Amino acid sequence: MNASPTSLPGGTWNLDDSPVTRFGYGAMQLAGPWVMGPPADHNGALAVLREAVEAGITHIDTSVAYGPQVTNELIREALHPYPRSLFIATKVGANRDAQGGWPTARRPEDLRKQVHETLQSLGLEVLDLVNMRMGNAEGPQPGSLAEAFGTLVDLQQEGLIRHLGVSNVTTEQVAEAQRIGQIVCVQNMYNLAHRHDDDLIDRLAAADIAYVPFFPLGGFTPLQSAALSGVADRLGAAPMSVALAWLLQRSPNILLIPGTSSTAHLRENIAGAGLALSGEDVAELDSIGR
Ligand SMILES: NC(=O)c1ccc[n+]([C@@H]2O[C@H](COP(=O)([O-])OP(=O)(O)OC[C@H]3O[C@@H](n4cnc5c(N)ncnc54)[C@H](OP(=O)(O)O)[C@@H]3O)[C@@H](O)[C@H]2O)c1
Repeated sequence: MNASPTSLPGGTWNLDDSPVTRFGYGAMQLAGPWVMGPPADHNGALAVLREAVEAGITHIDTSVAYGPQVTNELIREALHPYPRSLFIATKVGANRDAQGGWPTARRPEDLRKQVHETLQSLGLEVLDLVNMRMGNAEGPQPGSLAEAFGTLVDLQQEGLIRHLGVSNVTTEQVAEAQRIGQIVCVQNMYNLAHRHDDDLIDRLAAADIAYVPFFPLGGFTPLQSAALSGVADRLGAAPMSVALAWLLQRSPNILLIPGTSSTAHLRENIAGAGLALSGEDVAELDSIGR
């Protein structure tokens, strides 16, 4: 299996030829309310990013749509010139409107524009990973991704992108993408309470493809469950730590990108994700989403 040790919980995973820590960081929460505009605490946001990298995290997830441009510019300000080990994953497929909506933008010209804007705002000549984000706020929607994903394959062949992934997709769309190009990851919503992708995770693990759950802590509605609190109390741990530890133990191809705008939460999450869960703990936690 692909994973190897690091000081962070979960070890590392190879996204094709690129090793990343399984404990990563999702930058979305660094933008303003509802992911629009600048953060309330600019220096605090920079501190979170710098502390993440100092702690050894080598996988940061972002998107040009966050802010828009805001999280990319924060990442650049905090971390550029980037350490060689740092792997920055991005997404394309949506713009932002004045009301904070996420209108779909998946025509070839939209995607090319977003990739070039991402390169510029991150200060890069090549992007490590671009996920083709499909579906909508309700989740994955059926339909072909061929034109959109094919545009990213073209951009990869032009040398602007190293690796490709897909996000907010159905199992059929994952298979369709694999017929068009090589994917190194799938980024879908998944956590203790939302387990629609259980079979997909196992199939991707068998193919050495990473699964990157977004909203690992419940996103805008943090996870709340009596079973989760019960296990956390028994272990003397925070519920969020238990939720992250459960994901790391769920499958070796799961990469964490929990979001936080707080260095205290970042530290708590790093320390807590390494919690060893017993079979009894896991059985109790499994009851939440089934
Ligand atoms: N592909 C997609 O469509 C998609 C969609 C959404 C998100 N994403 C990606 O997934 C990443 C993760 O999602 P997310 O950040 O929205 O949700 P999340 O990781 O599930 O949860 C983040 C929320 O949990 C809180 N939190 C974090 N640690 C905590 C702790 N120890 N105790 C209490 N609260 C804690 C954060 O608040 P504080 O700031 O106060 O810590 C924040 O409100 C994003 O950053 C983004 O990169 C992708």
